[in-house]
Amino acid sequence: MRYNPIIVALDLPTAEAAVQMAAQVAPAVGAFKIGKELFTSAGPDIVKRIRATGAAVFLDLKFHDIPNTVAKAVAAAVRLDVQMLTIHTGGGSEMMRAAEKSARETALALGRPAPLVLGVTVLTSLDTQALSEVGVTDPVGKQVERLASLAAKSGLRGLVCSPLELVGLRAFLPAEMQLVTPGIRGAGDAVGDQKRTLSAPEAMQAGASWLVIGRPICAAPDPRAAAEKILATLG
Ligand code: C5P
Repeated sequence: MRYNPIIVALDLPTAEAAVQMAAQVAPAVGAFKIGKELFTSAGPDIVKRIRATGAAVFLDLKFHDIPNTVAKAVAAAVRLDVQMLTIHTGGGSEMMRAAEKSARETALALGRPAPLVLGVTVLTSLDTQALSEVGVTDPVGKQVERLASLAAKSGLRGLVCSPLELVGLRAFLPAEMQLVTPGIRGAGDAVGDQKRTLSAPEAMQAGASWLVIGRPICAAPDPRAAAEKILATLG
């Protein structure tokens, strides 16, 4: 394997807890995901502290706003030195193009590789009934496909998707599209609130490029050993 596809979700309440976890597991993983809770409580400095472990940072703030505002937020994220970030595909094609352009131009000006701008399609907390309440009358699967196609046409190079969407998306997306999937659980793991899961090797076989894993690593008695064990299953 050329790269380590494990992204550890640092869903921890304080900067200290996150930095301690990152330092412990960094040698066994490829990246760390910083989400809304940690970023909002710890501030942008947390990105630098996590980057200092040597691992890549995935800033999961799911930007969704007018194109100009999203472009500026993406530029600010690139200046923080993140390697992946999320936007909502529901913001439309112009917003997605603005985000991708801003990521490329800001990175170029800084002499860094452009980060991967990942599109989020339909949140897994929404079912077909919840979609109909906001005026989307198609079933969830159809809406996921529509937004994924629009993201590819708008120049995005990656998407976040559920493990069970991988095979369907791979069937029509360009092969170079990177797919990042949460909902990863091994045979002995507590499922928690995840309803639809695959194991790490199953998800890679189904077409995932990256795996977002939180509690199976962070809540394990030995998080580093847990990450190494998952990595070993990927061959
Ligand atoms: O602890 P666990 O492995 O379930 O963590 C998965 C991570 O992926 C969490 O940060 C969660 O917010 C995120 N996520 C998810 N399902 C989605 C989108 C994001 O579990 N549909």
